[in-house]
Amino acid sequence: MSKFSSVELGPPIEVFALTKAFQDDNFEKKVNLGVGAYRTDQGKPWVLPVVREVEKIMASDDTRVKEYLPVLGLEVFSSAATSMLLGSDSPVILENRAFGVQCLSGTGALRIGAEFLAKQLKCEYFYYSSPSWENHHLVFTNAGFKEGRQYRYWNQATRGLDFDGFKEDLKNAPENSVIILHACAHNPTGCDPTQEQWKEIAEIIKEKKLFPFFDSAYQGFASGDLEKDSWAVRYFVSKGFELFCAQSFAKNFGLYGERVGNLTVVMNDVSCIPPVKSQLTLSVRGMYSNPPIHGATIVATVLKDPKLFDQWKDHIRTMSSRIIDMRKALRHALEKLGVPGDWSHITSQIGMFSYTGLNEQQSLHMVKQHHIYMLKSGRISMCGITPNNVEYVANAIKETLSLTQKL
Ligand code: LMR
Repeated sequence: MSKFSSVELGPPIEVFALTKAFQDDNFEKKVNLGVGAYRTDQGKPWVLPVVREVEKIMASDDTRVKEYLPVLGLEVFSSAATSMLLGSDSPVILENRAFGVQCLSGTGALRIGAEFLAKQLKCEYFYYSSPSWENHHLVFTNAGFKEGRQYRYWNQATRGLDFDGFKEDLKNAPENSVIILHACAHNPTGCDPTQEQWKEIAEIIKEKKLFPFFDSAYQGFASGDLEKDSWAVRYFVSKGFELFCAQSFAKNFGLYGERVGNLTVVMNDVSCIPPVKSQLTLSVRGMYSNPPIHGATIVATVLKDPKLFDQWKDHIRTMSSRIIDMRKALRHALEKLGVPGDWSHITSQIGMFSYTGLNEQQSLHMVKQHHIYMLKSGRISMCGITPNNVEYVANAIKETLSLTQKL
């Protein structure tokens, strides 16, 4: 009899279980379309050259020490990240009404922000899209929220946004609910509201006194353009909202395992900043004391140096273009094979993922029969598609659909 015998086995984390199964698979043509991590045309991870360059400079700089960072992180990083999100000429930056907190990637920023909202602003309900990144629910629940509710987002029949459902669910949300919004390149659907739709969403959020919490995991990575990918956040700020935004530097800097993130806080009253910062400080202190220095230094160095910054902007264009090319290649291969169904959504969706429309049974068949690892929701990471495997993937989809129900 052990003290631990009452512990129940928790469910596996689907996306990481898929990566492990992929690694353990000996099949030559296996393809990993599970985890959202960039791959080159050769199917290899890519450390951005500008990151390597900065790391070499850091390694040879003997004055660089490894002291603790302040609890809220590296100030030069968090202010550069906040400017990247909002634009350095944003009135809220010029008026000192915005600040950043360095966090453990986007997930850590969501967690710190959510804990603050639950404890300090007594928010009880959070709303997340149906479907959404599967971790939103766990992060917000662990942060102390009473209940997570979903708002309608995806219309399977049109393979597009269920805008009426989305608006109706927001209108019915109790005051002070927190609304998690994907800043761009919605995960998993790759389908974003249009600018006109964002304006209507902002209107409802204002009228119903809801609190917008953006999750920005793909700025620059989605379209190759930093301004375009932050349009929704900047629009809300221009309309006078107080808001939070969790920024991740995993995808756009390729710094997945370095856990570099920022919680941007936009407030209306400067005098409220010191108490808010003091409470955020206590949250961080009580959780992990202070954040790591390495990745944040890399990002800050790049964002603050015009030459390195231009180099990085080239890299984000390289990554986003390759993904767009692979979207075209997959759609073309499916159409060439005459696979039944309309495949235009593969090229109209944006960002890292495509929501193929394959159902759970079909997605599981792709994994089991074809060694093509994808989420059971039908989500595929476009980054895993390469010129070498696109035909194989298209043929596998064809075979899968011929066996099971048509799309
Ligand atoms: C994904 O959605 O695949 C990535 O963001 C990895 C993760 O943490 O789920």
